[in-house]
Amino acid sequence: MSLDSGALRGVLSQYPTGVTVVAIPVEGGVHAMTAGSFTSVSLEPPLVLFCVGKRARLAALIQVDLSFSVNVLRAESQALSTYFAGSWREPTPPPHPFVPWAGVPLLEDAAAALACRTVSVFEGGDHWIVVGEVTDLHLGLAPREPLVFFDRRYHRVDAGPGVGAPELEPPETPAQLFHESW
Ligand SMILES: Cc1cc2nc3c(=O)[nH]c(=O)nc-3n(C[C@H](O)[C@H](O)[C@H](O)COP(=O)(O)O)c2cc1C
Repeated sequence: MSLDSGALRGVLSQYPTGVTVVAIPVEGGVHAMTAGSFTSVSLEPPLVLFCVGKRARLAALIQVDLSFSVNVLRAESQALSTYFAGSWREPTPPPHPFVPWAGVPLLEDAAAALACRTVSVFEGGDHWIVVGEVTDLHLGLAPREPLVFFDRRYHRVDAGPGVGAPELEPPETPAQLFHESW
């Protein structure tokens, strides 16, 4: 079955993501890119990943051992997301101060940030899947309300009390899942 790419985008847009800025030190500055594909992979060892389009300029810079930062944007930082996605149309860029931290550029006022070292790069169709080992952690000042991307728009989290998630420690007797065969 061949999929219509517009329909694929429409369905994928129903999956909400946070918004990060991946930043790499380059000669004389920083190269940074908005990325919603960031996700955690492993706690032990601590691994995360993001995907970068093969045509993105950042893709040409990625290599094993390269250090990068992942900066989690706050709800107020939509302009930074637009700017680092290359879609900023105003004459003056929004303020985007980077400060040196743990060998990588830290975006000041990020809700949180991770310093990472690239350990693997896998081919994933028209993207590269970049796996990084987390080498340092930064938690921005509270309150930390994240920027959310959903249905091709930016959103804020409804900061109600919410419902506690189940314990993530594995139970002594693992749950069994049964399903009817097709
Ligand atoms: C909310 C949002 C999330 C994005 N996520 C990704 C992503 O995960 N990977 C990617 O390659 N591009 C992503 N993009 C698009 C890139 O930010 C954009 O193509 C950027 O211009 C590429 O940067 P570069 O070519 O300057 O390196 C996203 C854009 C937006 C607005």
